[in-house]
Amino acid sequence: MGENAWAYVSGGAADELTLAENRAAFIRLKLNQGVLADMEGASTGLELFGQQLAHPVLVAPTAFHRLLHPEGEIATATGASAMQAGMVVSAQASLPLEAIAARATPRPWFQLYIQPDRDFTWSLARRAEEAGYAAIVVTVDAPVSLRNREQRAGFRLPPGVEAVNLRGAGAQPGGDAVFGGLLQGMASWADIGALRQRTRLPLLLKGITTPADARRALEAGADGLVVSNHGGRVLDGQPASIEVLPAVAQAVAGRVPLLLDGGIRRGTDVLKALALGARAVMVGRPVLYGLALAGATGVAHVLKLLRTELEVAMAQTGCPRLDSITPDILWQPGNGQ
Ligand code: FNR
Repeated sequence: MGENAWAYVSGGAADELTLAENRAAFIRLKLNQGVLADMEGASTGLELFGQQLAHPVLVAPTAFHRLLHPEGEIATATGASAMQAGMVVSAQASLPLEAIAARATPRPWFQLYIQPDRDFTWSLARRAEEAGYAAIVVTVDAPVSLRNREQRAGFRLPPGVEAVNLRGAGAQPGGDAVFGGLLQGMASWADIGALRQRTRLPLLLKGITTPADARRALEAGADGLVVSNHGGRVLDGQPASIEVLPAVAQAVAGRVPLLLDGGIRRGTDVLKALALGARAVMVGRPVLYGLALAGATGVAHVLKLLRTELEVAMAQTGCPRLDSITPDILWQPGNGQ
């Protein structure tokens, strides 16, 4: 990919402290080996919101895939489907959401931003429902961010690449005046309740990082949460998503499934996230790198590596099923030695 696209995809907010922390925190976590476990009939399968999934690695919602490959989200859906991976399609996809859904198995999920025009927002959710999406993921972290690496690179979308599903939604964030400008029409908790009334699909909130927000999300009717700091692209200075997961899991106490994203680069990272309370994980940038390099084949390859690494890590830690993955597989000085 060109330097502009590289700055957009690989960068994070401000000094990229949180971006780095998402990796550093996984590196700090250490694993205990578990030998001679009975791995007969081992499986990575799970059920999530009534869907049977072959493994717990989903494609995170990311914008503008045609920036990286001419076949855009169709290539991503094709590659993900080849690996039986769930895919969350971004509200800022560069191809019509119906065309992407037609190429995706298992049934994909749709990521929504609450638009200043609420009627447009509800109609987009309805469109996703009619197109066969299996869940709605509302991204709730603030729609404003300052990504200096991207600014320095002078990033602009090339002509012909746009958020086609948001045509008619009115002005999108991107200006300079924050208070009184970008934040006009910003989403609030009341909007989550309103959306809950308007869709039959499972509703997840993405961008939850604190126990207080997690409890509030459940009160608002969320069916699932994605613990995420948006890959370090929004509030710089937040802890790693994996570091806040245990406290969020404790607050939620198993009432709804938790997903985690941010810094998942190896099968052992998937294992660590599941050990700390996630039911599944999502992967952002690695999928985009695969897409840029080799289209659908590249996406499939990235997901295949992660899936294989997860299976190997489960065998090495003595976990035949996802529900055998407990905090006991994490090494602590003085325990599990
Ligand atoms: C994103 N992410 C994102 N999230 C979202 O809800 N809607 C979106 O349109 C986008 N767009 C987007 C573009 C790019 C280029 C990136 C890198 C990320 C965030 C994404 O869903 C996810 O939270 C992170 O990418 C996870 O971190 P990793 O796996 O990239 O470390």
